[in-house]
Amino acid sequence: MKKILITGGAGFIGSHVVRLFVNKYSDYQIFNLDKLTYAGNLANLTDIESQPNYTFLKGDIVDAAYINGIFAEHQFDAVIHLAAESHVDRSITNPLDFVFTNVVGTVNLLNAAKELWKADFSDKLFYHVSTDEVYGSLHDDSFFLETTPYDPQSPYSASKASSDHFVRAYRNTYKMPVVVSNCSNNYGPNQFPEKLLPLFYNNIKNNKPLPVYGKGENVRDWLYVLDHARAIDDVFHKGKEGETYNIGGFNEWTNIDLIKLLCKVMDRKLGRAEGESEKLITYVTDRAGHDLRYAIDANKIMTELGWKPSLQFEEGLEKTIDWYLANETWIDNVTSGSYQKYYENQYTAR
Ligand code: NAD
Ligand code: DAU
Repeated sequence: MKKILITGGAGFIGSHVVRLFVNKYSDYQIFNLDKLTYAGNLANLTDIESQPNYTFLKGDIVDAAYINGIFAEHQFDAVIHLAAESHVDRSITNPLDFVFTNVVGTVNLLNAAKELWKADFSDKLFYHVSTDEVYGSLHDDSFFLETTPYDPQSPYSASKASSDHFVRAYRNTYKMPVVVSNCSNNYGPNQFPEKLLPLFYNNIKNNKPLPVYGKGENVRDWLYVLDHARAIDDVFHKGKEGETYNIGGFNEWTNIDLIKLLCKVMDRKLGRAEGESEKLITYVTDRAGHDLRYAIDANKIMTELGWKPSLQFEEGLEKTIDWYLANETWIDNVTSGSYQKYYENQYTAR
């Protein structure tokens, strides 16, 4: 039985990846390692928590002794590494948290894997899940390719870029078998409401202002989270060792167009008059160093691995809103307590 360590499996994307692997591969033992920060939530995984091929490990990737210990104890065959501090705004407030988890945490995992696997790297794999933000900000109509030079602009993307470099350096230096993927903006069920879509969903529902940074002209390329999880499955099983795969939906939206669409669908779902939710739009001080546009060229993964997005954006948005509407307890739980303080700090003075 193959033993796979998935890090960050209690978070947004990680929980979808864990579920997919646990349900699809009964011959894998899936270990989900997560610190359960504000973004980690075991309620994301209640449907699979008692499956015999699933084990949860609570721990911090920054703690090298702990990481070395679990590698020695469980003898993992592969790692799919998603654990990270993931929110750009928080990285602007607390950059060092991002250095510790995203850089030091990744190097701790690489060291532990190297130690365990160094006698024989065959059939081993360190899969590092990264972001399109490492490529920087586009100011023309081009796309990010796997060969686009790195040019990170925020503390978050600088920390992710650094971790990507370490992963590739371990391949070059120690022959660690690796694969890296860089994905665009995800949306879907279980996303923590600090990110644009769930935050705006929650504010619309509660009739609170919708804080649009700057003029709302920034462009993001949106992909349904389950399509990202399927892409990770494909890269893990069919990707070529040492390669990088860009993952994206060819689905670009300016923030303001996206927000207006969200408002329109929410008006319909909540039985409000059309145009009602749009009145909540409030333009606020821009994010510092706000990247203008991200756009992924996903042709490599599409042609080489046969992956493609399964959902049109409008359909995915509808499904996402339906999930949040049907899971009020989930969103109520994650927006109580420390979320209120975060929200005040982030938005009150804007
Ligand atoms: P998330 O913030 O929802 O989840 C991160 C998870 O990591 C949480 O469960 C958290 O508890 C855990 N974690 C954080 N610090 C940890 C530590 N020190 N030790 C152990 N666990 C820790 O993030 P997400 O949006 O699901 O992103 C997952 C990964 O995918 C990240 O590496 C991120 O950079 C990458 N990514 C995200 C997106 C996106 O749109 N969300 C797009 C591309 C790539
Ligand atoms: O591109 C992939 C990245 O996408 C991931 O690596 C990150 O982990 C993920 O957080 C996301 O980063 P963004 O900064 O693009 O996502 P966010 O949801 O924070 O913001 C999306 C856009 O909406 C961005 O242009 C900023 C804007 N925004 C965001 C918030 C939270 C607002 O206008 N108002 C807001 O309150």
